[in-house]
Amino acid sequence: MLDLWYKSAVIYCVDVEIFMDGNGDGIGDFEGLSGRIDYLAGLGINCIWLMPFYPTPNRDNGYDVTDYYSVDPRLGTLGDFVEFMRKAANHGIRVIVDLVINHTSTEHPWFKAACQDKNSKYHDYYVWSEEKPADAEEGIIFPGYQESTWTYSEEAGAYYFHRFYEHQADLNIGNPQLREELYKIMGFWLELGVSGFRVDAAPFLIELKGIEHTADEEDPYQYLGDIREFLSWRRGDAIILAEANVSLDKLPKYFGDGDRMQMLFGFIVNQQLMLSLARESAAPLIKGLKALPQIPNTGQWAQFVRNHDELSLDKLSESEQTEILSAFDQNKEDVWIYDRGLRRRFPPLVDGDPRRMRLAYSLMFSLPGTPVLLSGEEIGMGDDLSQKQREAIRTPMQWSSEPNGGFSTAASDQLIRPVIDEGQYGYTELNVLSQRRDPDSLLNWMERLIRMRKECSEFGWGQWEIIETDNPSVFAHRCDWQGKTVVAVHNLAKDPCSVTLPLSQEGDRSTHWLDLLADQRYQSIRQSESPIELEGYGYRWLRISHSKEPE
Ligand code: GLC
Ligand code: CA
Repeated sequence: MLDLWYKSAVIYCVDVEIFMDGNGDGIGDFEGLSGRIDYLAGLGINCIWLMPFYPTPNRDNGYDVTDYYSVDPRLGTLGDFVEFMRKAANHGIRVIVDLVINHTSTEHPWFKAACQDKNSKYHDYYVWSEEKPADAEEGIIFPGYQESTWTYSEEAGAYYFHRFYEHQADLNIGNPQLREELYKIMGFWLELGVSGFRVDAAPFLIELKGIEHTADEEDPYQYLGDIREFLSWRRGDAIILAEANVSLDKLPKYFGDGDRMQMLFGFIVNQQLMLSLARESAAPLIKGLKALPQIPNTGQWAQFVRNHDELSLDKLSESEQTEILSAFDQNKEDVWIYDRGLRRRFPPLVDGDPRRMRLAYSLMFSLPGTPVLLSGEEIGMGDDLSQKQREAIRTPMQWSSEPNGGFSTAASDQLIRPVIDEGQYGYTELNVLSQRRDPDSLLNWMERLIRMRKECSEFGWGQWEIIETDNPSVFAHRCDWQGKTVVAVHNLAKDPCSVTLPLSQEGDRSTHWLDLLADQRYQSIRQSESPIELEGYGYRWLRISHSKEPE
């Protein structure tokens, strides 16, 4: 049997600079992170995704790299990185790292050399035009904060292409020497023990820009296959988790026949999940799941509630977007960004209602795929809308009620970003330490959720199927794997209900339900055809058991 570890993974995303400051300078670092591996192991996660930690002018949270072979000195040294890797491995935690190779910072030595000398081999690492292309105002990723996709370099005497901010010059993947260099970068981190990469901005990485004349349309996708081939030769069990928020018809190309990316984030499902939660109706989520293409056996969806970016609703209609804003009672002016999403964490959308938060995470953890948590979600952290753009959701981790939330011993005005210090999400109210002491806290609940998820491999590996119910607010599905079945039932609405699931094929007398996880203690269900009770926003994970019931 294939040992596809990522199908049994619970991934936890860490931005080192805001996680834990080990040396008291106000910036999170590898020393601090290493000191918290025990905490993460206790939570039960088994794979860390590290956001960019490379040297950077940090104008886009590290997604603007100036050296792919090193660690940002503010965060530590390569030595600290290796210590961290060792500690993670000792706890059975794998590490994947962000691979930001669609673009470099304009301060990267390659870009500098490219500007200085047109004959330098680095010039062709980037995408140039003598004239400003007519489409320079199209395809802008950060509307409101980015004016163009082509910017003039005085030094080079030409325009360079940048899909993102103007300080992030796009690389020309049509250049074979650059491709070699990118393999070298992957090889470097694989040697240091990483289990794979989160490939940033995958659709743009394979854009035809700059290689229109040299390649046919299939070639860019084939490049994903080349990357995968390289990866698998170097390390057989390494994976690529691609960030590709693309339309449904394009998704299969990223998986290929199982010879390209192993994992893709479930952006479409995420957006439909938000609509379902807002509407208190199962229909959008069902629609989103049913629309997904069949994926290869080795393929997997990465499910999430929130990531470190805006909550993108770009695949929904304008009226659906408006519906979400009003259902969650959001003031568009404060929260809406880039014409497509919300710069908020999830708890503030549901006013910190513990039932609705647990409902959302119970759903996410049971959807077909692998769950991905953003650090801070396990304690229900909030956001700080006074911070600019997406930084609102990138505040330091709240460890305790000590100054700076225990994140750092530096003076508060020295912190990389202010800690949330007021209201219900302030660190004195909401932090790891106090939640550890409270058996009913979100943190302890999340730990139990993760434990149960790991015991239900059906969700990560199995065949899934939507179960139709007679209640439009109830989302029910089953996952079957190696002769075992789990069923999850979620009530998206605030009123209690009762549903009967049509599982006739299991309807023989010896079948009954085992309760695995639920929002409260329910009466156990003796027979599979009996009605299932659910509280408002309630959920139940059940296993179909064919064994004889204990007397
Ligand atoms: C990805 C990252 C985002 C970043 C962008 C440019 O979308 O998630 O944070 O700004 O790429 O690298
Ligand atoms: Ca530090």
